Amino acid sequence: MDNLAFKYKTDKGTRSVNGTSGKGYTLLYEKYFKDFRYAPIRILEIGVKSGASLRMWSEYFPNAEIIGIDINPATKCEVGTIYIGDQTDTDFLKKVIDGYEGYFDIIIDDGGHKFEQIRTSFEALIDSVGICYVVEDLHVSGKKFFNYLSDMFALIQGKKTKIKSVHFYKSIAFIWM
Ligand SMILES: C[S@@+](CC[C@H](N)C(=O)[O-])C[C@H]1O[C@@H](n2cnc3c(N)ncnc32)[C@H](O)[C@@H]1O
Repeated sequence: MDNLAFKYKTDKGTRSVNGTSGKGYTLLYEKYFKDFRYAPIRILEIGVKSGASLRMWSEYFPNAEIIGIDINPATKCEVGTIYIGDQTDTDFLKKVIDGYEGYFDIIIDDGGHKFEQIRTSFEALIDSVGICYVVEDLHVSGKKFFNYLSDMFALIQGKKTKIKSVHFYKSIAFIWM
């Protein structure tokens, strides 16, 4: 996957692309998602930009259905299906969800990165994710999302949430259902 990140020029890989240092997320994505590589999974990513990561997902997961969301109306990508809207617009998110029988295997939030954006999308989408919800670039929102998820853990004890576990890294979290 790391070679594909470099090939398609997304900064999720270990190498610098377009003058931006690589974040190395591909090492974690590969570790956690390699077993799903050839499965017919459905992946939703918030934040498409030029489509680099959608191209990477599409080649790494050849049997996956790829869906992207971006607020920028100029967003275009030949890979996957793109919906234009704001990740904090819950009516917009509901329309996207309803188009996919209310189910995605993996959801990745690489959108605006502000805590309120992350939280709003997470709460709107959590019931629609089957395997894992990933939030990238957590350094932008500081400790807020960590604290928020810690509260979620309190709910896990009370069995009020479907979250089974959370893997936290410096700037990325994998939330398992
Ligand atoms: C870091 S870029 C995505 C990069 C892409 N995932 C990749 O790795 O190639 C973030 C994208 O999120 C979009 N974005 C920012 N705020 C958003 C929001 N509120 N709702 C949806 N998309 C948003 C931006 O337009 C931008 O294209």
